[in-house]
Parts: sequence; structure tokens; C-alpha cells
Amino acid sequence: MTPLMEIIKNRRSIRKYEDRDISDEMLNTLFEAVQWAPSWANTQCCELVVVKDATTKLDIQECISPKNPATKAIVNAPVVFALCAKNKQSGYYNGNVSTKYGDWFMFDLGLAAQNLCLAAHDLGLSTVIVGLFDHERAERVLNIPEGYSLVAFIPLGFPAKSPSPPKRKTIDTLVHYESF
Ligand SMILES: Cc1cc2nc3c(=O)[nH]c(=O)nc-3n(C[C@H](O)[C@H](O)[C@H](O)COP(=O)(O)O)c2cc1C
Repeated sequence: MTPLMEIIKNRRSIRKYEDRDISDEMLNTLFEAVQWAPSWANTQCCELVVVKDATTKLDIQECISPKNPATKAIVNAPVVFALCAKNKQSGYYNGNVSTKYGDWFMFDLGLAAQNLCLAAHDLGLSTVIVGLFDHERAERVLNIPEGYSLVAFIPLGFPAKSPSPPKRKTIDTLVHYESF
């Protein structure tokens, strides 16, 4: 397996972390991973809020249902990223949407999130993407300005667990040749 394929296949969503700080050097590598993600016409709509403050993490946790398996990860993680998008950039041309899908920020943030998660795994760190929460409440907690959307949280830390990989679809059920 190539080193990249190893990183892709061995990255796991981890929801429990060791009580260890993350160095600024590591954080900077992750910022670069986001910086170099592809985006619609290089519009780069993705922006991050980096949360380390314990009270803010508790406020964020309040926005997530206790049923969400990642709820405790927010306060357990030494660092939590909030992935935000500047609206009306991705998928737009001259201020108008260019495709039937409207704003493509979810797509661009997905790419940025994957870059971040893979780069974290490469550094021996772990993450989980958290998308199921009360977005409006969380936007108020982090003072997200008008014209931006808070899309996902990504708690980050040194892994305290190594779960076995969840099953994937077989390749023959996900690939179609020549037409669907
Ligand atoms: C867009 C998105 C949203 C997600 N939201 C949550 C979430 O709210 N809570 C959670 O525990 N995991 C969440 N996950 C993690 C998935 O459950 C996880 O990626 C999936 O089960 C596959 O496991 P793996 O990442 O270890 O391969 C999310 C993943 C993605 C891509």
C-alpha cells in the first residue's frame, strides 16, 4: 500500500483523547492542510475557529444532543475546530449561482475537513467530524457573523482508543462503468 493509501484507510473517527496538549507546530500543519484544500474557482470559502477554552467547549457541547456519540468528545478534546463557510462564494459566478446545487460550501468544507483529518492522522492525532447539532445555537456561541455558516465541529487530540474499522460497501456496489 502507498503511504497515502495507508493514511486514507487507517484514519478512524475517534471520540476519546489522551490528556495531552497539541503543539502550535502541529496546529500550523493542520491549518496548512486546510489552506491547500481545493475549492470552487479557488474561492477558499472555508474559515476555522480554534477552541481551547473549557467554558466555550461546554457551551458547544450544550448544542449537541447527548445521544450523539461525539458529544463528550467536544469537552474531552484539547482542541476543537469549528469549520465555517463564507456564504455565496463557492458555486457562484458574478454573484449568481452557477449550478442547480446553489451554494457549494458544503462540498468545499468537506474537502477541507478531509484534508484536516488526514493530516491529523499523519501526525498521530485523531479527529471526528461532528455534523449533527443545533447549528443556530452554536453560531451564537461562537459569534459567527452574518454571511457565514458554521457547518461542523472537529474535535482533535491524541487517540485514547483504536476502534476496528466500520465496514465499507464493496467496490462493485459503488462503481459503475460507462453509465449508471
Ligand atoms: C459530514 C459528517 C458528519 C458526521 N457527524 C457525526 C456526528 O455528529 N457524530 C458522530 O459521532 N460522528 C459523526 N460523523 C462520523 C461518522 O460517523 C464516521 O465517519 C463514519 O461512521 C465512518 O467511520 P470512520 O470515520 O472511522 O471511517 C460524521 C461524519 C461526516 C462525514
